[in-house]
Amino acid sequence: MKVLVTGGMGYIGSHTCVRLIESGIEPIIIDNLSNAKVEVLSRIEALTGQQPLFYQGDVRDEVFLDSVFANHNIQAVIHFAGLKAVGESVAKPLEYYDNNVNGSFVLARCMRKAGVKSLVFSSSATVYGDPDTVPITEASPTGATTNPYGRSKYMVEQGLSDLFFAEGDWSITLLRYFNPVGAHPSGTMGEDPQGIPNNLMPFIAQVAIGRREYLSVFGHDYPTPDGTGVRDYIHVMDLAEGHIAALKTVGEQSGLHIYNLGTGKGSSVLDMVEAFSAACGQPVRYELCPRRPGDIAECWASTAKAERELGWQATRSVAEMTADTWHWQSKNPQGYSPE
Ligand code: NAD
Ligand code: UD1
Repeated sequence: MKVLVTGGMGYIGSHTCVRLIESGIEPIIIDNLSNAKVEVLSRIEALTGQQPLFYQGDVRDEVFLDSVFANHNIQAVIHFAGLKAVGESVAKPLEYYDNNVNGSFVLARCMRKAGVKSLVFSSSATVYGDPDTVPITEASPTGATTNPYGRSKYMVEQGLSDLFFAEGDWSITLLRYFNPVGAHPSGTMGEDPQGIPNNLMPFIAQVAIGRREYLSVFGHDYPTPDGTGVRDYIHVMDLAEGHIAALKTVGEQSGLHIYNLGTGKGSSVLDMVEAFSAACGQPVRYELCPRRPGDIAECWASTAKAERELGWQATRSVAEMTADTWHWQSKNPQGYSPE
């Protein structure tokens, strides 16, 4: 089976490609390298013995996409490509709507022309906004998003749902990721953010390796056990396996399939600092700071639907998430860039 993987050179896409190859599925990657390095290809090869086919190009380029579909017998698409920095999305809304929303719809149009009607889309728990209750189920309200990035994910979900209701022979799977962290356990692949990391784990990792002085803990007066924000961190390898499970089960059934991909467990910022300190064998320096605007107190997933329907559940602990992140960071202090 051949699967087109848009954004397959990025953090989640690259780990998913490793698991695809290991499952006997052939990934064909397209990526414009706006947030990835070509070095990822040789890392995938080092882990799997196979270098996936890669085309550098943009999902908004219809002629380019048409040619990729024309040249390969593609059966399904996993669509990771997009921009993902919340703060940047506030400053550059047009770029975010163009990349994420327009890009997704150009892709769907090209899929329809090529007769490929199985699509797995990278959505986010951000579509739930600030939840009234936790754990969050797939039936929880969506749409009260607080920034252009979140709205772009919600818009794509809406557009793809409309597409399915108009053309019922599609299999459309919306995977709502909670907080992906961790790295391949070999330390060969991991997250390589450009500039100052926005997210917690890569920031902690850079403090531990000495690239940053200390972590600012955003808020310590939330109504949570230790006052810091609580999230559902999920190991990127578990997330990768969730995509394989989705492809193999619902990917071949027409329908609009929606799943949370999380662990069902919440951890606070200070829990993550403690776990990382244990993993790297030294205390991670931090300072308690005011809340970050737009943040929510707590958020974790109900995983029952994915367990029941996909036969998938996350198995890796927070200790493995931090150990694998540290392994990657210490083997690759500057990420994929040469020192
Ligand atoms: P990433 O930035 O590492 O990967 C995205 C990849 O897409 C990059 O390699 C980038 O070069 C490529 N890309 C961007 N725009 C493109 C375009 N127009 N055409 C072709 N390629 C393009 O991000 P990631 O963390 O791997 O996230 C993958 C997907 O999952 C994204 O859609 C993101 O919004 C979503 N998601 C991520 C998280 C997270 O915390 N990492 C959480 C929820 C959802
Ligand atoms: C953020 C995004 C969300 C996106 C998700 C996964 C915001 C407002 N939301 O969510 O849209 O889907 O990432 O990519 O950015 N923290 C610190 N110090 C830091 C960084 C983070 O204390 O330097 C805290 C945050 O306040 C939060 C927790 O760590 O409590 C996790 O933060 P982060 O990794 O940015 O993820 P989210 O806020 O869940």
